[in-house]
Amino acid sequence: MISHSRNATRLRASPNFVQALTLDGRAYIAKETEPYHQFWLNERYRILLALFSVRRGLTPQQAIARYYRLTQVEPSAAENRRLVKAIADMQASEVLISSHADTSRYDESMANYYLTYRPFPSALTAHMVKAAGIESHTRILDLAGGPGDLAVQLAQVSDAVELMELSQGFLAAARARADALGVKLETIHESCNRLHYHDAHYDVLTIAQAIHWLDDVLLCRGICRLLAPNGSFFVIQSIIEVDDKHPLAYLLGHNSILGAKTPQPFIEDVRPLWRRLGLLFDALDSPGVEHVDVRYAAESLSQKIVPVDIKLFTQVRPFDQGFAQGFLTPKHIQATGLEPNAFWQDLAARCADATPAQLLGTHHWAVMQFQRGGVAMDFLEIAKRQAQSIEFTLGTA
Ligand SMILES: C[S@@+](CC[C@H](N)C(=O)[O-])C[C@H]1O[C@@H](n2cnc3c(N)ncnc32)[C@H](O)[C@@H]1O
Repeated sequence: MISHSRNATRLRASPNFVQALTLDGRAYIAKETEPYHQFWLNERYRILLALFSVRRGLTPQQAIARYYRLTQVEPSAAENRRLVKAIADMQASEVLISSHADTSRYDESMANYYLTYRPFPSALTAHMVKAAGIESHTRILDLAGGPGDLAVQLAQVSDAVELMELSQGFLAAARARADALGVKLETIHESCNRLHYHDAHYDVLTIAQAIHWLDDVLLCRGICRLLAPNGSFFVIQSIIEVDDKHPLAYLLGHNSILGAKTPQPFIEDVRPLWRRLGLLFDALDSPGVEHVDVRYAAESLSQKIVPVDIKLFTQVRPFDQGFAQGFLTPKHIQATGLEPNAFWQDLAARCADATPAQLLGTHHWAVMQFQRGGVAMDFLEIAKRQAQSIEFTLGTA
């Protein structure tokens, strides 16, 4: 029996599952990360899942009432039992989660370290504001924006900034920071792999240091759907470079225990992503089909998204214990095979023994710009440009 309490927990569709159709049209949902659970959905489950796919979620009681209204099925005790069972099944398999549940490995306790030791460089934001002509009414969505440093910087220029992120903890930190600074920021707890289910249009979309976590095909499908005429999509990629004598070289260096990196000029790290995204937009973007929007003139709807610019930056900065605390999640530490306390004690001792100069390294940044209806730029031309050197200052949580 469903509780009629006003305080019944609100449930919502977990952002970790995507809904898909088989070739013969049967609906299923699959977890988009390991271990790739799959669930077949009959009509009852499919409708319930759609009803629970709203931002604030619904109580089971509300979902059942809406199910009856939508389907016009005659309410009965037997149908109630089936609906309650369907909701319980989806809850047990974590397809439905509590509206407040966090499915991310980033919790709120990391947010302060993140905001302090991994501030988003304001020079990159200034570049995007200028390149896209961002003004107070520009509609902006920052994707996988972490605790929201970039989004909050953008919110100081525009009143229409939204932040989409998987970690509830990071979203709460971003809201608190926006409130403290008196800027407007809308937050969306959602997987960016589900962007193409959203309907709004944006003049600017950004994604910083996160595209490697996402399914880039799904992401680009979403961008194709949401990017307004003349709108820009910025992809920020970064690489840390420390020499082999750096105290954290075992984590951040070329032979990191978290995965080896090929030593090469930074522009060679940028090239494959720039090329891949350009090809994906060329293949996936069907302007005018997905962008049926009466606000836009027909000719602006026929323009494709093309790669238009890359701006490079270098930043010399300390990579120290604080940075590690804003960078490494318990999952990273698990991957090292070390016990967490021992891991952090060892790391602290390595940093304590080092001079400030020994803790320095270089953070390389690239801001790639893709624009609907822009003029495509040749990579070889861009590769000749010098990187701009920028300062590092600690952020504020
Ligand atoms: C390295 S952080 C980058 C955060 C921020 N953009 C920045 O530049 O500091 C990666 C972020 O991606 C988020 N993330 C990972 N997978 C995601 C997904 N499928 N949808 C939304 N956010 C996701 C993580 O929660 C994390 O906050």
